[in-house]
Amino acid sequence: MLSFALFGGLFALIGVISGDSSNSASEARHMKRILLKPDSTSRGSHTFTHSMNSRLHPPLYHGCYGDITTMEASGASCDIGKLINCGIPGSEMFADMDLRALKPYQTLIKEVGLRHCVDPALIAAIISRLSHGGTVLLDGWDHTGNKFGLMQLDKNIHQPAATWDSKEHLLQAVGILTDRIKAIQKKFPSWSEAQHLKGGLSAFKSGAEAVATLKDIDTDFVNDTMARAKFFKRHGF
Ligand SMILES: *[C@@H]1O[C@H](CO)[C@@H](O)[C@H](O)[C@H]1NC(C)=O
Repeated sequence: MLSFALFGGLFALIGVISGDSSNSASEARHMKRILLKPDSTSRGSHTFTHSMNSRLHPPLYHGCYGDITTMEASGASCDIGKLINCGIPGSEMFADMDLRALKPYQTLIKEVGLRHCVDPALIAAIISRLSHGGTVLLDGWDHTGNKFGLMQLDKNIHQPAATWDSKEHLLQAVGILTDRIKAIQKKFPSWSEAQHLKGGLSAFKSGAEAVATLKDIDTDFVNDTMARAKFFKRHGF
């Protein structure tokens, strides 16, 4: 609150110095809006506080596969039936809904990210997209009984290890993800870092054979997961 007061004071000072009364009146209205906003909704307060914090803390760990904050991510696709909760706001809304379920795993996700040199925000995004932090699973399985754990490994392709929300599961799944990214790097040496990461994401979900051209990384899964990853990056992952 102290910085709010200083900020407000600075604005008032600028108003006085500029001597433009109509200007300072509109600035005062603007300040009032900014100052009132954090109390109007809890979400607004959280976002504002966080953006102030992130400027005070050192940059977060990005891992070995590029800086996701600089990569394009258009969010969930806006097809028929999903016209309201789509695009970047849609992805962020879903990521926000999963934030509480993901928090207990934050330390574990960071540890596994560090071990495999993968951005923890990307791991959080995959967990959010595929299992909503485990909240939609039944004893760790999806409704079809084929996919297991926070990162939803298909039992027909992999042998899911240990319990559904264990460190072993995350280590196994993130290991598979990095294997896929490396396979895409090898298969498409001319692709950019972002394309390799997006290709690896697609291959994690659908297998490396499923990625043949750049069209194959232009999917709802990739666009949505990348947008969620940016959200989780801004929320401490
Ligand atoms: C994915 O995002 C790209 C832009 O980054 C966009 O051109 C494309 O239409 C999106 N694909 C889907 C399936 O939403």
